[in-house]
Amino acid sequence: MGKDGPRPGVETPLPLTQADAELRRERLYGRRVGKPLRAHQQSLIETRLAEFSVPQDGPIDLRAMFPKASAFAFEVGFGGGEHLVAQANLHPEWGFIGCEPFINGAAKLVARIVDEKLPNIRLHLGDAREVMPRLPEQCLNAFYLLFPDPWPKARHHKRRFVTARNLDQAARLLRPGGELRVATDIADYARWTLEHLMPHPAFRWAAEHAADWRNRPADWPATRYEQKALRQGRHSTYLRFIRL
Ligand SMILES: C[S@@+](CC[C@H](N)C(=O)[O-])C[C@H]1O[C@@H](n2cnc3c(N)ncnc32)[C@H](O)[C@@H]1O
Repeated sequence: MGKDGPRPGVETPLPLTQADAELRRERLYGRRVGKPLRAHQQSLIETRLAEFSVPQDGPIDLRAMFPKASAFAFEVGFGGGEHLVAQANLHPEWGFIGCEPFINGAAKLVARIVDEKLPNIRLHLGDAREVMPRLPEQCLNAFYLLFPDPWPKARHHKRRFVTARNLDQAARLLRPGGELRVATDIADYARWTLEHLMPHPAFRWAAEHAADWRNRPADWPATRYEQKALRQGRHSTYLRFIRL
């Protein structure tokens, strides 16, 4: 048993009913709505969101969603979608799923999907943990967790996205050789992530030199949050883990 509760085997998906029950017990913390949506954003949410959304229920059929894709990737908490859009342009042959409960971020992403006619992004306006158990084993080439909410107070650490259970799910979803990327501007979150991932049997930290975690790799586009942190003088840590 892990410190976050029972750890499902990394090869075994949580049965949907159990996952649903657990999600109902858990809470997603933080804001879901920020500034009021502009009229155009509101209209995009009302008229186009469904078209670009992951189906609401049941197992997710990636092939049906992205018939031409040769690989798939998943982003937790895409914010305004800058990284997801950049990755979708870098890898037009991949299919991307992004999850974000913040409606203003979803509106920004839908606007970019529509304006740039991006065929390879689908989103879930909600908690990534609702989608992860519905994806098949070893389906992903990449799993991105970029600047997760840091929850700096010790009594709130249990709200952090990096938990044994979420990492077990990421391990279940990534194919061998696939990559889990975590970025943070908070030193304690970087330490926390390494403490959880270094002993994890399914992952190997890809870094060999300090430059590997201090510098953002070329195929890792910057996020809005990261640029804001940099303007405020906080440098980020870029952690890459390979699925064994
Ligand atoms: C600090 S922001 C970073 C946003 C973006 N990744 C960036 O770097 O600009 C963290 C984001 O994660 C989202 N988030 C938090 N918990 C989440 C969850 N369980 N599933 C999906 N998104 C989540 C929040 O709504 C927020 O937008």
